[in-house]
Amino acid sequence: MRTMATLGRLGIGLTVIALLSAVAEASLCSINGIPLVRNISELPQDNYGRGGLSHITVAGSVLHGMKEIEVWLQTFAPGSHTPIHRHSCEEVFVVLKGSGTLYLAPNSHVKYPGTPEEFPIFSNSTFHIPVNDAHQVWNTNEREDLQVLVIISRPPVKVFIYEDWSMPHTAAKLKFPYHWDEECLLTTPPSAKDEL
Ligand SMILES: *[C@@H]1O[C@H](CO)[C@@H](O)[C@H](O)[C@H]1NC(C)=O
Ligand SMILES: *[C@@H]1O[C@H](CO)[C@@H](O)[C@H](O)[C@H]1NC(C)=O
Repeated sequence: MRTMATLGRLGIGLTVIALLSAVAEASLCSINGIPLVRNISELPQDNYGRGGLSHITVAGSVLHGMKEIEVWLQTFAPGSHTPIHRHSCEEVFVVLKGSGTLYLAPNSHVKYPGTPEEFPIFSNSTFHIPVNDAHQVWNTNEREDLQVLVIISRPPVKVFIYEDWSMPHTAAKLKFPYHWDEECLLTTPPSAKDEL
């Protein structure tokens, strides 16, 4: 009898664990499982294979079904940076912490980006990237993390990545669609809303 009761309790325990992990999985990847108000400190973060980066999708096309904008919170350790890249979406940065350098090549009409202009960026500063201008954000502060809130239009981003500033625009490597949360792509049901 006692064994049966123990097994019964064990069974219930296992069911609860299975349910809890299903909920955890759902809240990570599906729109339905995600609370409306979310604690940023508890959102999943990853470096997506990039050393020194911590990326959190605050609101995204895959995770939250966003169609017009996507919002990221990114933290760059000292010395880390984005690749040199361009995209045709709008992009706005708000620097929350730290400082660094924005490199921007505004001559996107010529064959390659060329020597970029350098702009110091600092805590509580904001900037936007002109559509299609090659750019790079770099934490050039050796002592502090650089944390930025990034808002982009028209997700998912279609990114062209350059190896250096003299690489021809036509040789830049296309990455599309650029989904940070692509592991969730298969588990997310397509959004019912097609038009806003
Ligand atoms: C948000 O999450 C952090 C980390 O888990 C926690 O310390 C904090 O209390 C949470 N804030 C609220 C309002 O729940
Ligand atoms: C950022 O700037 C705004 C506008 O001046 C100000 O209200 C806010 O306190 C500043 N925040 C920080 C962290 O300096």
